[in-house]
Amino acid sequence: MASLLTRTAPRGLIYQSRKFSRSPITLFRRSLAIAVDEQPRLRLGSTAPNFTAKTTQGDIDFHKWIGDKWAILFSHPADFTPVCTTELGAFAKMKGEFDTRGVKLIGLSANDLSSHGRWIQDINETSKTDLQFPIIADSDRKVAFTYDMVDAQDVTNKDNKGIAFTIRSVFVIDPQKKIRLTMMYPASTGRNTSEVLRVIDSLQTGDGKGVTTPIDWIPGDDVIVPPSVSTEDARKKFGDVREVKP
Ligand code: BEZ
Repeated sequence: MASLLTRTAPRGLIYQSRKFSRSPITLFRRSLAIAVDEQPRLRLGSTAPNFTAKTTQGDIDFHKWIGDKWAILFSHPADFTPVCTTELGAFAKMKGEFDTRGVKLIGLSANDLSSHGRWIQDINETSKTDLQFPIIADSDRKVAFTYDMVDAQDVTNKDNKGIAFTIRSVFVIDPQKKIRLTMMYPASTGRNTSEVLRVIDSLQTGDGKGVTTPIDWIPGDDVIVPPSVSTEDARKKFGDVREVKP
């Protein structure tokens, strides 16, 4: 792992203080693949926008690819960057856990397919794994802008063509293609695979049993019966119910 930490940042990550004839914000706006006001507003419960894309496992229509499964779409700033490499290695190792829950994984990085192919070899080598899910080649940021996976805070966070880097977004999408959870992490902070899996367990438990889950819940812990259900009905449905407050 030490070698990952010493890897050189890609050229685009190095801030260049050249003089801009326009403000950085104007340049940032001009480099968007779609206009900001055309970006769909994605909220929990929104239909995940469909798209077609090239991936490391062939061309896909996103909704058809999801089919009747759950899906996790997660973005990365760029190929061969150290934090991303650790994240993809960790997701690759946990794929079996997601498979068991009927969840398909799909990564996204703003580079082309040949770079992705070489990167997967690198991930497999450094993480001692065998990455078996597709990675979208989103070099024009088409999907990234549709899903608002870009960093608007830091306009210097651009590649060497002046295009905004993608951040670390996670979209959990259910079999009805509804967005059920979003997470956004800055480029500098790697995500937590256990938390992504925990959220899947909570959502699936909630959908299946009509319950909610408290802080730090993990499978096996107590769940919460919504207050709209009477204690009597809860006992009929679940048997063993502990009334915390009448
Ligand atoms: C990384 O994956 O190491 C990384 C990518 C972009 C910005 C900072 C870190």
